[in-house]
Amino acid sequence: VGRRDLSPESIVRLEADAVVVLDQRRLPEEEVELRCASAAEVADAIRTLAVRGAPAIGVAAAYGLALASERGEDLDVVSDVLASSRPTAVNLRWALDEMRDDPTPHRARLLHEAEVERCRAMGEHAIPLFARGTRVLTHCNTGALATAGYGSALGAIRAAWEAGLVDHVWVDETRPLLQGARLTAWELETVGIPFSVIVDGAAASLMASGEVDSVVTGADRIAANGDVANKVGTYGLAVAAAHHGLPLCVVAPTSTLDPDAVTGADIPIEERAPSEVSTRFPARNPAFDVTPAALVASIVTEVGVHRAPYVESLPAAVRSPR
Ligand code: MRU
Repeated sequence: VGRRDLSPESIVRLEADAVVVLDQRRLPEEEVELRCASAAEVADAIRTLAVRGAPAIGVAAAYGLALASERGEDLDVVSDVLASSRPTAVNLRWALDEMRDDPTPHRARLLHEAEVERCRAMGEHAIPLFARGTRVLTHCNTGALATAGYGSALGAIRAAWEAGLVDHVWVDETRPLLQGARLTAWELETVGIPFSVIVDGAAASLMASGEVDSVVTGADRIAANGDVANKVGTYGLAVAAAHHGLPLCVVAPTSTLDPDAVTGADIPIEERAPSEVSTRFPARNPAFDVTPAALVASIVTEVGVHRAPYVESLPAAVRSPR
């Protein structure tokens, strides 16, 4: 692995005999690749979060399907195995659907390239949402690692920082698996953007003391009415942001929109092993939560900036060419 490489192919790529991912479980301590020699191994890598983040698991699944297709495997079976690896991010199902008519390595690589392009476009659209000197708070990891290149919310923060608008990034550590403290911090350090990791519970009091100007997050699935499923803790941030009069902006590609989910109630929320929370005591571990559209100031897709009522502003994006 090249050191500190955030290029799309360093995060996930297809080789002749394997899907290769940068193992996100080992970051930031070690930069180690994981070779998945079959679609079943790709599904395992997704389930265990070696590769994670909504767009990135879609791309990994597309490569897994292409690998299976090259080997003449039963693609309906393979598709089910990949689709069932994680329930909440709709990008997984979306990517497998996109691959249905042409399950080739070429198509999977095009899908990957297009996701990265979507991220860059989202970054550009998001820049006007940042005022000069913004201190932005973010949750989980929504950068190159989560999207297989550039990033959604973190891509927007990066674009705004490059435009000279971002003063500081508050990085929620993101309990229990620390995607913020491990992965977002690693990415921001790599790019050279000033940041501080905070415990999740510190966000509201930083808002109260006037040290936060806006909250920017990604999404795992967005319902037709604009309800947003994202990493657990996002809803709490949204409530706190509303209380302090701060905008919550969600940045996600159209591959994260689910027009079949009428509201957030239709989005399946992954429950992960209680042992991720406590190995000693009983625990509950919902991995995502739903933020009602009423608490979302804007949703940025590669099509542009969408505002409420989302039931009207989002379908335009769904219908646009992908
Ligand atoms: O459980 P994870 O790490 O896959 O959760 C990821 C998130 O919740 C991200 O915020 C989301 O996928 C948007 S990233 C582009």
